Amino acid sequence: MSVQKNKKIIIANWKMNPGTITIAEKLFKGIKKGSMKGVDTVVCAPFPYLTIIKKNKPSAFCALGVQNIHHEKEGAHTGEVSLSMLASFPVKYAIVGHSERRAQGETNQIIAQKIGLLIKAKITPVLCVGEKERDHSGFYLHTIKEQLIECLSLIPKASYKNIVIAYEPLWAIGKDAARPATPEESNEMVIFIRKCVSDIAGSTVAHQMRVIYGGSVSSKDASVFLREGGVDGFLVGRASLDIKEFTKIIALAGAQK
Ligand code: PGA
Repeated sequence: MSVQKNKKIIIANWKMNPGTITIAEKLFKGIKKGSMKGVDTVVCAPFPYLTIIKKNKPSAFCALGVQNIHHEKEGAHTGEVSLSMLASFPVKYAIVGHSERRAQGETNQIIAQKIGLLIKAKITPVLCVGEKERDHSGFYLHTIKEQLIECLSLIPKASYKNIVIAYEPLWAIGKDAARPATPEESNEMVIFIRKCVSDIAGSTVAHQMRVIYGGSVSSKDASVFLREGGVDGFLVGRASLDIKEFTKIIALAGAQK
């Protein structure tokens, strides 16, 4: 299966950071300055920072994203944020199914509902899939396949091309990660993800979808991942909180042919 060249996308997942709105503004300004025409940069910020980011004018090259939305339109859901509440912000992307949210009870069925709402609202879902551990019998492949089939079950197949899939093995995420994945492991999984999508929706759609990697990404390994890991970009946690480091990753993506 030859994979078509997709435009690279570098997504910042700030998680519950930074601690103040002043730092958030500085961080966004720095990232925007370091973003470039040939790369889609996205900043997925905490909700309280959307106003200040809107003021700093997200652009086509440096877009605004969120880290979650609720799967229902409204109702008695204390502490949650619905999609319609975001209507006054230029939100273009939303992360769904991050492992840190799955750990709090987010199921594939709930994620499917979120993706349905996002597609209708023309916001690009960034669907995270990933296994807890790698076993020798290859059960982890079954986990990824099930996540894809169930999370994509409520939307028309023609919409798949508007989704970004982020492969994020749990064992590679965060400061306590066992180790980052290798480019070989990433490449194998990107091929598997495209194969699963191809089985459901056909190879054209599978090639159009952007598949990215997340898990301890840094400027040190970004180039080799882009060259040998089969990915169209990254979902970046800790390194997205450091302007120099994150904009270096953007520049490396821009330099890839
Ligand atoms: P990390 O987080 O880059 O800090 O490992 C990635 C993520 O959880 O999206």
